[in-house]
Amino acid sequence: MPTRPLERRQWLIGAAATLATPQLAHLAAAASPPIVTPGQTEGPFYPVKFPADMDADLVRVKGQAAQAVGQVTHILGRILDTRGEIVRGATVEIWQCDAQGIYSHPGDSGHKRHDAAFQGYGRVQVDGAGRYAFRTIRPVAYPGRTPHIHFKVHAPGIGRLTTQMYVAGERLNTTDGPLNGIRDRKARDTLIVALAEAGDLEAGALKGTFDIVLAV
Ligand SMILES: [Fe+2]
Repeated sequence: MPTRPLERRQWLIGAAATLATPQLAHLAAAASPPIVTPGQTEGPFYPVKFPADMDADLVRVKGQAAQAVGQVTHILGRILDTRGEIVRGATVEIWQCDAQGIYSHPGDSGHKRHDAAFQGYGRVQVDGAGRYAFRTIRPVAYPGRTPHIHFKVHAPGIGRLTTQMYVAGERLNTTDGPLNGIRDRKARDTLIVALAEAGDLEAGALKGTFDIVLAV
């Protein structure tokens, strides 16, 4: 059955509902202090030129009739501090390759074949509860790397963090250089996100939760 695209507003509301368990999150945070999200290399493909459309929906590009190739994936999360409190006013950026493993970046030898319907980069501000949500595609492997999404968080008055999010169960996770460069297993595991069916948000799509804890 073809997937019916949702309006941006609908899936953002759905994303908010998924994360609406602040009491439980607070209790969990009280039980054990959250692990600071480890930083990762920015890599060579941070945009040199931002796309004209750089909203939270990377699957749709303004002016493109087609939707990006790839499996639609919702990535949701909160920006927290080490006490488990939400961080207000943070900006979250993501960037990743398209479904063929190509970045929209002149440093990628295949960039002329980049999927024009895939935005490749998105930027949002967290809402009043410290939450962000992106609609993107499931990341794919490219030579030398396991699937990942690059993240950069700017938190006014706190600082910034550059890291990468990985997908649970990917075969290449065990040999990926940047991921396994994190020696502390618990810290490494915080970057690995389980993806599940996102039927409540969008039929046929996946979703995963990636909370980011900033050192304060
Ligand atoms: Fe990358």
